[in-house]
Amino acid sequence: MISTILIILAVVYFLKNLLVDVKVSNPLENSGEGDPTIVSGKFTPKLLVKYNGSDDPKIFMAVKGNVYDVTNGAAFYGPGGPYENFAGRDASRGLALNSFDPSVLTPLDQPLDTLNNLSATEKESLESWEEHFENKYRLVGTLHNETELEATSEPTKEKSS
Ligand SMILES: *[C@@H]1O[C@H](CO)[C@@H](O)[C@H](O)[C@H]1NC(C)=O
Ligand SMILES: *[C@@H]1O[C@H](CO)[C@@H](O)[C@H](O)[C@H]1NC(C)=O
Ligand SMILES: *[C@@H]1O[C@H](CO)[C@@H](O)[C@H](O)[C@H]1NC(C)=O
Repeated sequence: MISTILIILAVVYFLKNLLVDVKVSNPLENSGEGDPTIVSGKFTPKLLVKYNGSDDPKIFMAVKGNVYDVTNGAAFYGPGGPYENFAGRDASRGLALNSFDPSVLTPLDQPLDTLNNLSATEKESLESWEEHFENKYRLVGTLHNETELEATSEPTKEKSS
């Protein structure tokens, strides 16, 4: 009885690995997870706000021009969480200032926050947050000005490090 279970488990495990391999070997299957609203990993503020956890279960957040999938951190970034204001938004200034005040968020119809008036301490705070996001969450794209995305419709490969 137990050995039968073990054999079944082994077979399931083997098949699962096989499926994962197939998925990994086909990069096209992975990009944007087939979500048509993700334009080759490039977001504008208005495109990003769709991922604030209300309409779509996925929650995305931008930090220093990179967009991360923070769905696994929904307890923090999801509706009712302490950081919910940041869901679907560029959170850079808020993280730098350690502030959840709505005023730290750039209005959706305005150009991206250049962050060039941050103090050294604020920049440091932002950098350690960025490190946290890089380590914990999947990078799903980059954040761009509305005008920039209109001008370059050609898909480009962005590299993160
Ligand atoms: C979340 O996004 C939806 C549109 O997708 C919008 O209607 C709603 O107001 C947004 N919520 C917040 C808190 O920004
Ligand atoms: C977005 O646009 C603003 C104003 O047009 C500009 O200052 C800023 O550098 C741009 N940001 C990016 C990331 O291109
Ligand atoms: C820095 O720039 C932001 C965005 O342009 C602005 O909202 C904020 O008031 C500025 N802060 C200071 C201290 O100048």
